[in-house]
Amino acid sequence: MRNISSKIFIDGGDPEETRQAKQLFGCIDGQTTNPTLISKNPEVQARLARGEKFSKVEVYDFYKKVVLEFASIVDWSVSIEPYADKNTTSVEILNQAREMATWTKKAWIKFPTTVEGLKAASNAVREGIRANMTLCFSQEQAAAVYNATKGAKDVFVSPFVGRLDDRGEDGMNLIANILKMYEKGDGHVLTLTASVRNFNHLLYALQLKSPIITVPFKIFKEWADKGFSLPDETFVYDPGTLKPIPYREIPLDKPWTKYNIHHDLTDIGIERFSNDWNYLVK
Ligand code: E4P
Repeated sequence: MRNISSKIFIDGGDPEETRQAKQLFGCIDGQTTNPTLISKNPEVQARLARGEKFSKVEVYDFYKKVVLEFASIVDWSVSIEPYADKNTTSVEILNQAREMATWTKKAWIKFPTTVEGLKAASNAVREGIRANMTLCFSQEQAAAVYNATKGAKDVFVSPFVGRLDDRGEDGMNLIANILKMYEKGDGHVLTLTASVRNFNHLLYALQLKSPIITVPFKIFKEWADKGFSLPDETFVYDPGTLKPIPYREIPLDKPWTKYNIHHDLTDIGIERFSNDWNYLVK
């Protein structure tokens, strides 16, 4: 099933799901994870059910083991997320990134799309570390990613569609807007449609030719059950009552620090990820 231009990733924390997806699809290009998804891994859940938590070293080792398992299944890329809370500095993020990048040749490190995250990422890509800029919620953030990583290859930016939908905004508009903005660029940043919550998100991302789409196994399974059907020319994405996010003309050539990088959903996302991670640790 390879007559699509988008690369297909699985979004999850359980290698068994990725194995099953690969059996169904033939091959899977990549894997995304995050602390929330790792905390839902069956081994983690079983451990928590026994009332056991992890030491800091154990949780790190467990994460590495899961990442290596993903790397043995997928063809191209595994996203690995360093720990970051609102106080984590770029130096701390970069140090974790340096270590995690050695885990597998398929490593892409997830950096939050914040000032500290962009600082870390711009240094990391210069060292040859591959970056996935996560928790992106605006076109300006995507423009900053473009500039902070100029000169690097295959940088990912992950706009979180579902979380915008959750608060009544049409998240898929952001994908369309970023793709349009990047048409004027050099192609070094690949838009990775993330936080996919339903089958129509997937179909529209395929229609938009989002370079990468990360799909939770449940939705992947639905796609498989529908024979991996693709959107035809009559497919029109229906956002229902979601409020449109208009396209903005944003130049791509400003220094990244000159863009408005702040987004409240990025801050909320960092807090949620760090809480979910800390919950695992005794
Ligand atoms: C993937 O990289 C993202 O972390 C994931 O898609 C987020 O999904 P959610 O908004 O459903 O938590």
